[in-house]
Amino acid sequence: MVIERTLSMAKPDAVEKNCIGAVVARLEQVGLKVVAAKMVLLTRSEAERFYAVHKGKHFFETLVTFITSGPLLAMVLEGENAILKNREVMGATDPRKALPGTIRGDFAKDIGDRMERNVVHGSDAPETAKNEIGFFFGEMEIFSR
Ligand code: CMP
Repeated sequence: MVIERTLSMAKPDAVEKNCIGAVVARLEQVGLKVVAAKMVLLTRSEAERFYAVHKGKHFFETLVTFITSGPLLAMVLEGENAILKNREVMGATDPRKALPGTIRGDFAKDIGDRMERNVVHGSDAPETAKNEIGFFFGEMEIFSR
């Protein structure tokens, strides 16, 4: 059994839509445990650092503007195969392609082509998870169970 940690964000659109509780419930329903959480308003330079892997892509500026537009809920999730499990429950990056029953499929269908507003973010690999968790949290802020 591989117990992993992954970084999850309920993005500013989730806060705006008042659905962060529903997002957390979906995560818990698939067996993921929230072992750290905080609301954060990122500065522009912090957001550029967090999304540095996307620098130069056509959506980078829009993404940074959006992610700094309001507070987000950053969380560390822990559980068996947490990285993959979180990505499955989030659904496809493009909510138009996300299946019903996934978080993006159920909470981001209304965004059209504004793909940055896809409600949640989740780390895509173990190394990314480690870096993204370290971006938001110190080890003493994480409460493994
Ligand atoms: P996220 O999981 O936070 O990782 C990068 C984000 O960029 C992605 O979700 C989307 O919100 C946003 N984004 C906007 N346009 C695109 C695109 N064309 N391809 C991938 N991601 C995009």
